[in-house]
Amino acid sequence: MQVKSAEFVKSSSETSQCPNDNLPEYAFIGRSNVGKSSLINMLTDRKGLAKTSGTPGKTQLINHFIIDDSWYIVDLPGYGYAKVSKKLRKEFNKIITNYLINRENLACVFMLIDARHEPLKNDLEFITWLGENGVPFVLTFTKADKLSSSELNKNLMVYKSKLLQQWESLPLIITTSSTSRIGKEEILNFVANTNASIDSIK
Ligand code: GTP
Ligand code: MG
Repeated sequence: MQVKSAEFVKSSSETSQCPNDNLPEYAFIGRSNVGKSSLINMLTDRKGLAKTSGTPGKTQLINHFIIDDSWYIVDLPGYGYAKVSKKLRKEFNKIITNYLINRENLACVFMLIDARHEPLKNDLEFITWLGENGVPFVLTFTKADKLSSSELNKNLMVYKSKLLQQWESLPLIITTSSTSRIGKEEILNFVANTNASIDSIK
């Protein structure tokens, strides 16, 4: 699938303010600075569509982008950024969890993980939370360009075995890089297939 059009629609501070036309929606979530906004720009071939920054905590609110007039990408604020106040972090968490549980047209979440790091406690906790709450997700490793292929494979193996200590099977795993544009086809094909299966049951 190719993205033909991508436009910013609105920022919402809570789920009830999100667009209500019931189009399938895909949310990008993960720690601050993991590369959510960069990945959205790479997928849509629009450099400045989602705002990126070297400083964590750039994305706030729930940001909707309409793609090809038929589905949404949602850029969410990152979690786990220590430098925002505790109160603000709590507020972000509340917004995100409320959105993930209550958003009926949420087709899937792309849960982003920095491929360079060992499994981090708050990422693992977040994955557990998604599983326990029945939120469908794809594990999406980012910044693959920063590793050699052997380092990348090693880190993926470590992550998978960590997850298999807790789960019987693994979710879909996609490796990406916004700079070398790895993973674009795989994500867009996954979205196209998911949209088609949603259409077929309507
Ligand atoms: P918040 O909105 O703060 O939660 O961050 P985010 O997850 O949206 O991250 P963002 O896309 O703003 O990227 C953070 C930093 O990582 C920026 O400096 C990006 O240029 C860099 N970055 C993102 N993706 C990649 C990647 O695939 N490869 C490399 N080398 N750098 C990346
Ligand atoms: Mg962002």
